[in-house]
Amino acid sequence: MSQKILIAGATGYVGGTIIARLLARPDAALQKVHLDLLVRTQDAADKLLATYGDRVTPILWAGLHDTSSIETIASTYDLVITVASGFIAPGAQAIVRGLVAHKESHPRSVPWMLHISGCTNLADRPITGVAEPGRVWTDEKSREVYDWCVAREAESRYPQRTTEIGVLSLADELGIHAVSLNTPVIFGEGEGLFNRQGLIIPTLLRYVLANGYGFKLNDTANFDWVRVADLADAYILLVKIILESEDRGVGTIPSGKEGILFPAVGRVLQTEIFDRCLDVCFDQGVLPREGTPAAKEVRLKTLREVADEATAGMLDLAEQGWAGNKAMTGTVLRKLGWELKHGVEAWERDFVDEFVALKEGRRAVTFESCIGTSKGSSY
Ligand SMILES: NC(=O)c1ccc[n+]([C@@H]2O[C@H](COP(=O)([O-])OP(=O)(O)OC[C@H]3O[C@@H](n4cnc5c(N)ncnc54)[C@H](OP(=O)(O)O)[C@@H]3O)[C@@H](O)[C@H]2O)c1
Repeated sequence: MSQKILIAGATGYVGGTIIARLLARPDAALQKVHLDLLVRTQDAADKLLATYGDRVTPILWAGLHDTSSIETIASTYDLVITVASGFIAPGAQAIVRGLVAHKESHPRSVPWMLHISGCTNLADRPITGVAEPGRVWTDEKSREVYDWCVAREAESRYPQRTTEIGVLSLADELGIHAVSLNTPVIFGEGEGLFNRQGLIIPTLLRYVLANGYGFKLNDTANFDWVRVADLADAYILLVKIILESEDRGVGTIPSGKEGILFPAVGRVLQTEIFDRCLDVCFDQGVLPREGTPAAKEVRLKTLREVADEATAGMLDLAEQGWAGNKAMTGTVLRKLGWELKHGVEAWERDFVDEFVALKEGRRAVTFESCIGTSKGSSY
């Protein structure tokens, strides 16, 4: 019998890569998977069907704000992957409620939601609030991470964090299982049919090309990183465990308030990312040019400037992203069997790959699309 999985975010960088990689897997359990894919345009539906044929069924939806439809749709599944914008709490919680409805009509079912969120949730606020230098989160102590997030939310809400803790707490409260991959910088060419580019490196590289220098808010901001293919494989691993285990992974995959996992591979300072962007631009001979600094420079800026120039005007995201300490150590996924294929060499090579992609006009990412304030993609 085929196993139906619902995916929100099928046109995204992460979602598209999960779909492509999952459908290519030879594992018996995964070969039986049929993917129902939520999309906002008929064009996207047509392209998915034309490419993946009878392994997929596109479903047109209005998006994550249409909570009543989402709940109805999700109520016919016991496994949902939510890798659409991680910033829209009502929509993500409606999926939890849909899974609860599924459980009510199928009492023996063990519904799971595999969610995505991001490392800016975990950042300190060295400019407007409390700095926590040297702190490193570990997913072995996921409950501590969750509790800190709840405390931070009480002081000031941040939509991606509101969504993550909202999903995990509601899942616990209503008796279904949910795990959130709290994801660092994602890099590398995606493998889906639509958006194939990451956010951070293309954004920073574009900034360097436009201005001739990088920016910083301090010298301590950091990022962990993971290649998009490895991140997709982490989701596929969780799917496989759920499908192959007699207990549907309940005894092995942490869930709810214990279920914040870190698919993190390496760590750098933000200034190092800019150094690499500058290196590639100078090496390729496009910098310096008239009006730009003759030497490589990462310039100190104000929070307002960085929010406006590189973060869609959002001050909280700008501080958490470009100033915050958000170091994370992930070991739980590795213990579950996550096999990483891309390390430091792939990370370093990516800057040249991104430069070439930008030069060839293959890059158009915006913060608006990633955080979910765009109206839907037209590919
Ligand atoms: N990219 C990163 O470096 C990164 C790092 C850490 C965490 N994350 C998390 O991962 C999430 C997905 O990232 P991504 O890079 O895959 O983003 P992406 O390529 O921009 O894709 C966003 C996806 O979300 C969908 N979407 C956006 N707004 C929506 C709405 N209002 N209703 C329904 N669907 C909506 C888009 O669908 P349409 O095509 O219909 O617009 C698309 O499928 C982010 O929101 C963030 O929480 C990303």
